[in-house]
Amino acid sequence: MESAEISRRFLRFFEERGHTVVPSASLIAEDPTLLLVNAGMVPFKPYFLGQRRPPYPRAASVQKCMRTLDIDEVGRTTRHASFFQMLGNFSFGDYFKADAIPFAWELLTKPESEGGFGFAEDRMWVTVYLDDDEAADIWHRVVGIPVERIQRRGMADNFWSMEVPGPCGPCTEIYYDRGPDYGREGGPIADENRYLEVWNNVFMQFERGAGGTKSDFPILGELPAKSVDTGMGLERMAAILQGVDNIYEIDTTYRILDRAADLTSSKYGRDHRTDVSLRVVADHLRAGVMLVSDGVAPSNEGRGYVLRRMLRRAIRNLRLLGAGDDRYMHALTDTTIKALGEQYPELGTDAARIHTVIDAEEEAFLSTLRTGTAIFDAAVEETKRAGRTSLAGAQAFQLHDTYGFPIDLTLEMASEAGLAVDEEGFRGLMAEQRARARADALAKKTGNADISVFGQLLELAGRIEFLGYDESDSDSEVVGLIVDGASVLAAGEGTAVEVVLNRTPFYAEGGGQLADRGSIRTSDGAEVEIADVQSPLAGLIVHRGVVRTGEVRVGADAQAHIDVERRRAISRSHSATHLVHAGLRRALGESAAQAGSENSPGRFRFDFTAGGAVPVNVLRDIEDEVNEVLVNDHEVHAFHTSMKEARQMGALAMFGEKYGDQVRVVEIGDYSRELCGGTHVARSGQLGLVKLLGESSIGTGVRRVEALVGIDAFRFLARESVLVAQLSEQLKTPREELPERIDGIVTRLKATERDLDRLRAAQVLAIAPELVKGAEDVNGVAVVIHRAPDGTNADDLRKLAVDVRSRFTGDHAVVVVLAGVPADRPVVVAAVNEAGRRRSLKAGEFVGVAARALGGGGGGKDDLAQGGGTRPEAIKDALDAVDKAIRLRIG
Ligand code: ALA
Repeated sequence: MESAEISRRFLRFFEERGHTVVPSASLIAEDPTLLLVNAGMVPFKPYFLGQRRPPYPRAASVQKCMRTLDIDEVGRTTRHASFFQMLGNFSFGDYFKADAIPFAWELLTKPESEGGFGFAEDRMWVTVYLDDDEAADIWHRVVGIPVERIQRRGMADNFWSMEVPGPCGPCTEIYYDRGPDYGREGGPIADENRYLEVWNNVFMQFERGAGGTKSDFPILGELPAKSVDTGMGLERMAAILQGVDNIYEIDTTYRILDRAADLTSSKYGRDHRTDVSLRVVADHLRAGVMLVSDGVAPSNEGRGYVLRRMLRRAIRNLRLLGAGDDRYMHALTDTTIKALGEQYPELGTDAARIHTVIDAEEEAFLSTLRTGTAIFDAAVEETKRAGRTSLAGAQAFQLHDTYGFPIDLTLEMASEAGLAVDEEGFRGLMAEQRARARADALAKKTGNADISVFGQLLELAGRIEFLGYDESDSDSEVVGLIVDGASVLAAGEGTAVEVVLNRTPFYAEGGGQLADRGSIRTSDGAEVEIADVQSPLAGLIVHRGVVRTGEVRVGADAQAHIDVERRRAISRSHSATHLVHAGLRRALGESAAQAGSENSPGRFRFDFTAGGAVPVNVLRDIEDEVNEVLVNDHEVHAFHTSMKEARQMGALAMFGEKYGDQVRVVEIGDYSRELCGGTHVARSGQLGLVKLLGESSIGTGVRRVEALVGIDAFRFLARESVLVAQLSEQLKTPREELPERIDGIVTRLKATERDLDRLRAAQVLAIAPELVKGAEDVNGVAVVIHRAPDGTNADDLRKLAVDVRSRFTGDHAVVVVLAGVPADRPVVVAAVNEAGRRRSLKAGEFVGVAARALGGGGGGKDDLAQGGGTRPEAIKDALDAVDKAIRLRIG
C-alpha cells in the first residue's frame, strides 16, 4: 500500500467517525517552546490546555514532523528519521479511552479490501501504563486481546508528554510482531525491534511543568477536560504494509536513496558504511526539502541551522560515497520533490525556489570546504606544536561559526589528523549562542509574559478587532493589562505595561511592517504612550508602552490614537516593497521569492532568494519600471478571498507565513498582486518616488535590496544633486564632464606622487657621499651612525643604508646604522657588508639594541635589518647604545 493511500485511508476512517480533517500545519511551530513541530498534537496544544476553544470536538490529521535531537543516529539505525509524518486522531474533551481504543483496533485489523490496514489480530501486542487498569480492561474485555499480550510499563515508556510544558497523560501503545527473524520472544518489553510500535494513544489528562526527566517531571494539575491524542508514524506503517525491512526502503524514501546510489555509482546493501551514507542522504533531503518548502533558509542559528546541518551532512555523505566535487543536490532535490509531491503538491509549484536555496547552500558549502580546510590545517598545526592532543572547543566553534564547518566534519577531519576535539567545550559555546538567540527571539515575541497569559486574555477578550485599515483613532475598552508577565487590573504612572483593547487602530508588527506608535487615553484621565505593538498569538494585539499619567484600569473606556505621519510613511514603504517585489519577479523569474522584508518610515529593505548578484543595469531597469507605475497612479485595492482563488489569481505569497482559509489580497493596478495583511497607500502616486540604494548578499542564496521612498527618496536625490553642483563649481567643469575630469585629476595626482617620491628618495640619497666621508674607523671597520631628518620614511632609510654600504670596496668592513622618525614613531635600519659580517658584526643584533632603547622591537638578518619603537625622544640614546655595542664587538 502506497504512503499516500495509507494517509487517505486513515483520514477517511476518522472522517466517517465524526472527525474534522485538518491540514498539516507548517513545520515552523507557533509555540515558542518548540523549534519545530515534533508531534501531530502540537497545533492543537492550546485546545488541550483549555487556552483556546476548539472549533471542532474531534479532529484527524497527517502532520509534518521533525525530530532533530538524534540527528547523529539517523541512518546508523533504521528506526528513526528526522522528518516523518504523523497520522493522528484527536478528541478535545469529547470521547476518551472507551472509544479511542476500539477505533484504533478496528482500523488496524479491518481487512484491506474493506478500507482497513489488514493486520493479523494474533500478531498484535499492546502496552499500558502501570496502573491504567481501565485501558487494560478495554483491551481485554472489549477488544479481546489475551492478557499475556498486554504489558504494563512505567512512566518513561507509557506516560507521554512533549518534554516541554504542556499537556500529558498515560498512553497505550500498539505493537506488531514481525516474527522470530527479527528478535526474541517476549513482547515489546523484551525486544522493540521485533515488536514494532505502530500506534500510540495518549489519554491527555494532566498539565506538566518545565524540567525533570522523561520518567519524572512536575505535574501542575489536571486539564480542564479529558482528551485523546494519538500518533501513528506513516513511514513505519508503510514499511510494514509494503513488506520492506525499514523506513528507508518505503516507496517515497527509497526513490531518493536509489537515485543517490545511482548518481554516485554505489550500491545499497553492499556494506554498512555505504548504507548509512545513503540513508543519511535520503533522510536529509526529505527533511531539507520540507523545511525549505516551509520557508526556512539555511543559517547558523535555530531552524536555519538545523537545515544547514542536514544539507551539509547530505553533501558530506555524498562525498563519502564518491561524489567528489560533482554537484548532485539539484538532481536529488528534484527526485525528492517528485517522491513527496503526491502528498504535498505545493512542492511542485514551489520547486524553483526550493532549488535556488538548496543549490546555493551546496555551492557555499563546497567553497567553505575549500577555505575552511586551510583554517582547519592551521589549527591542527598549532595544536600539535603546543603539544596538545585535542583541538580546543573554541577552535571547533570558530570553524563552525565563521566557516560553517559542522562539528561532525571537524571531528572526522581531526581524527584523520590524529587529534581529538574538546566537544564539551564546543557544545558549551554552542549552547551559549543558542540561548542568546532564543532569549532574544522569545523576548521580542512575547515580552516578559508566559504565552499562557496571552492565551487566557485571548479567550477572555475574543479576537481583537483591527480597525487600522481605515481608521487612525478608535473608541475602545481596556480588556487586559499585563505588567511583568502577569495579568493585572490596574497600572499606575511610570509603569511599563502591555495593554489589550477590544478594538484598535494600532498595527502589530508583522509581515515585515513595523508597528505603529501612538497613545491610549482612558476616559478617567490616564495616558499610555505606546512604543511597540505585537501579536504574540493570532487574533491578539498587545500594545506596549509606559503609563505617562494617571492610572490605567481594566474595563476603562479608552481612545486609541496612532501617530498618523509615521503610519503613512510606513504604508508608503510597504506599497513600494510590493512594487519592487513584482519588478524583481518580472526581471529575474519565479525563483526570486520573498525571504523577508522590513517596511519602516521612508525606507524599506526586501530580501529575496537568488543564485547570484543582480546586475546594476537590471536594478536600474526595475527602478525605472517601478517609478513608471507610480506616475501612472494605479489604484491600490485590498479584498478578501479564499486561498485557492488567490493562488489561481497568481497572488504572490511569502513562504513560511501562515495564512488562514480566507486571505487578504492587495493589488496595485495590474502590476502587483500579493497576499498581505499590511497597510497601504490608496493610490500608487502617493509614493512619489522610489530610489533603490543598492543590492547585496546577506547569506547563502539570499540577496537584499534597500530603498528610500517618498520625501526621503527625494531628499536623498536632492543631496546628491547639491553635491554634484558643488563639485561642478569647485572643478569649474560642467556636470556631464565631471567623471572624465576627475579621472584626469586622479591620474595626474598619481603621477605627481610618484615624481615626488623619486625626488625625495634622491634627496635622501644625496647625503650618501657625505656619510661615507664622515665614517669613523674603529679597528679597521668603517662605522656610520646617523640620524636622518624627520619625515624620512623607512623605505628611503633602507635605500640610503644600502647605498652607503655599497660605496665601500669589498674587503673594507662597514656597518651603517640609520635612524629617523617618518611620522611619529622612530625607525632604525642597520646594514653590514660581507667583510663586516666576517668580523662578527650583525645588522639584526644592532637593530635589536636600538629598538629596545626606543621601547619597541625588531631585528632581522645579519646583512640588513629594520626595527622601531614608540619613543622618538630616545633616538640619541639608542644610537649611542648601538655605537657602544659595535665597539664592544670589534674593540
Ligand atoms: N503525541 C503522541 C506521540 O507523539 C501521540 O507519540
